[in-house]
Amino acid sequence: MTQYDPLFSQVRIGALTLKNRFAMAPMGPLGLGDAQGGFNQRGIDYYTARARGGVGLIFTGVTFVDNEIEEHGMPNCPNSTYNPVQFVRTSREMTERIHAYNTKIFLQMSGGFGRVTIPTNLGEFPPVAPSPIPHRWLDKTCRELTTEEIHTLVQRFGEGAWNAKRAGFDGVQIHAVHEGYLIDQFAISLFNHRTDEYGGSLENRLRFAREIVEEIKARCGQDFPVVLRYSPKSFIKALREGALPGEEFEEKGRDLEEGVAAAKLLASYGYDALDVDVGSYDAWWWSHPPMYQAKGLYMPYAKLVREVVEVPVLCAGRMDDPERALSALSDGVCDIISLGRPLLADPEYVNKLRTGRTACIRPCISCQEGCMGRIQEYSMINCAVNPQTGRERVTAYNPVLRPKRVPAGGAGPPVWRLPGCWPSGATGRSSLNEPAAWEVTCWPPGRPLSRRTSWRWSAGMRMS
Ligand SMILES: Cc1cc2nc3c(=O)[nH]c(=O)nc-3n(C[C@H](O)[C@H](O)[C@H](O)COP(=O)(O)O)c2cc1C
Ligand code: SF4
Repeated sequence: MTQYDPLFSQVRIGALTLKNRFAMAPMGPLGLGDAQGGFNQRGIDYYTARARGGVGLIFTGVTFVDNEIEEHGMPNCPNSTYNPVQFVRTSREMTERIHAYNTKIFLQMSGGFGRVTIPTNLGEFPPVAPSPIPHRWLDKTCRELTTEEIHTLVQRFGEGAWNAKRAGFDGVQIHAVHEGYLIDQFAISLFNHRTDEYGGSLENRLRFAREIVEEIKARCGQDFPVVLRYSPKSFIKALREGALPGEEFEEKGRDLEEGVAAAKLLASYGYDALDVDVGSYDAWWWSHPPMYQAKGLYMPYAKLVREVVEVPVLCAGRMDDPERALSALSDGVCDIISLGRPLLADPEYVNKLRTGRTACIRPCISCQEGCMGRIQEYSMINCAVNPQTGRERVTAYNPVLRPKRVPAGGAGPPVWRLPGCWPSGATGRSSLNEPAAWEVTCWPPGRPLSRRTSWRWSAGMRMS
C-alpha cells in the first residue's frame, strides 16, 4: 500500500474499464503519420513506449476524417478515411502492441481546424469555417461551409470511427468543442453567424457535435466509447486577442455560464466522458500552458464541469505532481488525470510512480521547445529533455551480447575515467537490470575499489 494507491484504482468510461487513473493527453502526431494517412513506424513505437510506461489510456493526437472539404498536404496527421486499408493495417499493429501492456487506446478524430488552420498546413487551400469570419493567422476570410458539407463531415466521422474500431481502437475522442477548432467555431456565437439549423440557439450551435456522436454510436454501437475534448471557457478578449491569468475582461468567446450549460447538453447527447481544458487559439497560453502558468491550471474548470455531469471528467494541464493528482481525485475535480508533456519527457512516469521511484521521474519543464517548437519548425514531435521522444526505435538501448573490454587506468576511482561517467553510459546498459556490456579492467591491478565502484560491482558489472 502507498499513498498513491487511489491513482492506481480502476475507472470506467462507458462500458470500458481502465487499469488506472492516468491517460496520455492527445498531442499532435506530427511526423508520426505516413503519406497514405496511416501511422508510420515512429508513431507505432512512440505510442507503444507510453503503454510500456504504464499509462492506462492513450489518446492519439489529432487525426483527420476528411481531406477534401479542408485539404491538408500529405503526409500530415493520420487520416482514418483517406486510405482505410492503410489506416487499419498500420493502426492494427499499434493497437495490438499497446493492448499487450493492458493499456487502452482511443483515436482522436478532428472535424478540421477551420479558422485556425496552421498556415504551413493550409498552403494555398482556402480556409473553411461556419461563417465568413477572419482567419486566425492570415489576412483571409474563411469560406462558409454548406449544409451538405456539414452532413458529409458527420458521415466521415462515422466511417472514420468504424475504421478505428476495425483497427482495434477501444474508443474515439472527438476534437473538439475546445481551443477554437472547427466544431468549437460552430459552438461559439462569436464565430457562428449562421441562420440555418446549425446557428442561433446553443442547441443549434451544438448540433454538429451532437450529430457526430449520434452517427458514431449508430455505426459502431452504443457501447463504443466516445469522449469529447471540451473547453468550458475560451479566454477571448477580441478576435486574435487573449486574456492573461488574473486579468479582468469581458469574455467574447464561451464563458463559464454557457460552458456549464453546454457540458450538460453534450453529456446528454451521448458523450461518454469530457476531457476538460480551457483556452483557444486567441489565448494559446491557456491551451498550451508554458512554465509561467500555474500547475493544475484547469482544475477549477474541470470541477465545475464534473459537478453538473454524470460522465467521467478528465483533466490535463501540468498535472505531473502526484500529490496534486491525488487531491484532484479526492476533491472531486476529475476522475482521470491526463498527462501530455510529462509523458513526452518521461514515458515511464506512471510505472515509476507505481513502484515508488518518484525521484527518478524526469520532469517536463514546460519549455515548449522540443514539442511545440519542433512541431512548428520541423513538423515533428520531440522533447527538449528526452531526445528519444519520437525516435524510440533508432535511439533504443539494446543489450550488447558480447561485452567489450575497457581499460580504466590512472589515479582516481576507475569508473570516473570512463566516457560519460554516467551509470548507464559507463556500463553500456540502459538500466541496472540489463546485463553489463563492458568488462572494465582497472590499472594498476589490485587497486582497492571505491564505494561507487563497489555499488556498480554489486549491480552486475564485471571488473578484473
Ligand atoms: C505538442 C503538443 C501537441 C498537442 N496537440 C493536441 C492535440 O492534437 N489535440 C488536443 O486535444 N490537444 C493537444 N495538445 C494539448 C494537450 O492535450 C494538453 O491539454 C496540454 O499540453 C496541457 O497538458 P500537459 O501540461 O499535461 O501537457 C497538445 C499539446 C502539446 C504540447
Ligand atoms: S519540450 Fe519542454 S515542454 Fe515539451 S515536453 Fe519536453 S520538457 Fe516539456
